[in-house]
Amino acid sequence: MIAQLIETFSQTLSVEIAITTTLKLLHGSYALLVLDSNDPEKIYAAKYKSPLIVGQGTDGITVASDLMALIGYSTDYHALDDKTFLVARKEGIRLFDLNNESLDLHFKPIELDDQDTTKGEYAHYMMKEIHEQPSVLRRIVTNYYEKEKSLIKPEILESIKSSDRLYILAAGTSMHAGLIGKQLIEKMTSIPVEVHIASEFAYQKPLLSKNPMFILVTQSGETADLRACLVLINEHHYKSLTITNVPTSTLAREATYFLELYAGPEIAVASTKAYVAQVGVLAIIAHELSNKSIDLKKELSIAATSIEHFLESEDILTLVREYLTRRNCFFIGRGLDYHVSLEAALKLKEISYIQTEGFAAGELKHGTIALIEEGTPVIALISDPLINNNTRSNLKEVQARGAKTFRIVMESCKQEGDEVILENVHPLLTPLVMVVPTQLLAYYAALERSYDIDKPRNLAKSVTVE
Ligand code: G6P
Repeated sequence: MIAQLIETFSQTLSVEIAITTTLKLLHGSYALLVLDSNDPEKIYAAKYKSPLIVGQGTDGITVASDLMALIGYSTDYHALDDKTFLVARKEGIRLFDLNNESLDLHFKPIELDDQDTTKGEYAHYMMKEIHEQPSVLRRIVTNYYEKEKSLIKPEILESIKSSDRLYILAAGTSMHAGLIGKQLIEKMTSIPVEVHIASEFAYQKPLLSKNPMFILVTQSGETADLRACLVLINEHHYKSLTITNVPTSTLAREATYFLELYAGPEIAVASTKAYVAQVGVLAIIAHELSNKSIDLKKELSIAATSIEHFLESEDILTLVREYLTRRNCFFIGRGLDYHVSLEAALKLKEISYIQTEGFAAGELKHGTIALIEEGTPVIALISDPLINNNTRSNLKEVQARGAKTFRIVMESCKQEGDEVILENVHPLLTPLVMVVPTQLLAYYAALERSYDIDKPRNLAKSVTVE
């Protein structure tokens, strides 16, 4: 329809004015490239809400929806603003607003290289990204603690401290990181935190406190559900902080503040290292707001080493072959482990297509236990000695009904027969480590089924539609 409109208007107007006339009629989000068969040397590009980036290099001009797509083609990029429109030809680019007034382009160098976007020695990006997690945590520690100027500007901390309630908004894996963030902030400070699914918040805004502050957690910085929330937040002039892996993203640009995850490009659709980075950065924010009784820098380094040791010794494939043979699976846990169970379940279902649910271990008996039959896999996550026995007793309940159970535990909780034992880390940072075996379970389950691990069916890395 857009093409038809442009074609119709161009009968009487120039192509450029035909395009802007059409754009003014459109509602909703779009990212458009327009080619005119009468003048194939030009590309017209325009966007509203969806991302669009133009790159220039020695070989010409490239337009893409993601900075990573420009690597190898362009050396510099300009991220288009909403309701701007460009005309690109080999010799150069011109930028306009929708009234066809000329605008300036602001090119910046692309700081990613090929190494960031190749698989290296790994068969899949997901495996590479799982193995990068210790170095991602270390990079976060270096960037947040060892740079001369603190990345978390005093204004950010002041805005959070002067709010009476924090609202963490996110989708998918990032929402699961947000749930951990709530626990970390509430346990280290006295600020109450609510976590909301972005797609729900945008249209069912809960009753807000008097002086709210919003934290948007997003790997891509482009999730449309979250963008809808930010539009609402900005309309009310509330303060917001985006935590993202992509500093050039729309949500980074449109929030009051942003903080970077430093996870490096995450290419596999199923998010792994971005989750660990999100939990790491949320821990640092919580710590900065607290009385700093924990040596967080040291504790994050211990967590990085614990992940590394696990990755050196893991034998998850054997567990997958023995346990994950069914069409369904359950992860159970309590407290922080419950939130990790949600993420573990999402990862497994996303790439292996096994119907998986994460449950609060104590809640299983209130209904879902009816689904347990002979051979149903139930995986328990246990990292907190205080509730170790409670979760184990829930495991016994399902075992008695025929479930095939196994345990992923922290050393402090280990008992004879436990299948995966992880080196102890600070009790608030266990999610960083507990999640890693569950990522590998998902990976190997998908590998065993010969599925496309990095590009699972029906999913996209950056979801720019609501
Ligand atoms: C998509 C991806 C998920 C991701 C979610 C949120 O659905 O497939 O892996 O968790 O979007 O993305 P974001 O970029 O906002 O973290």
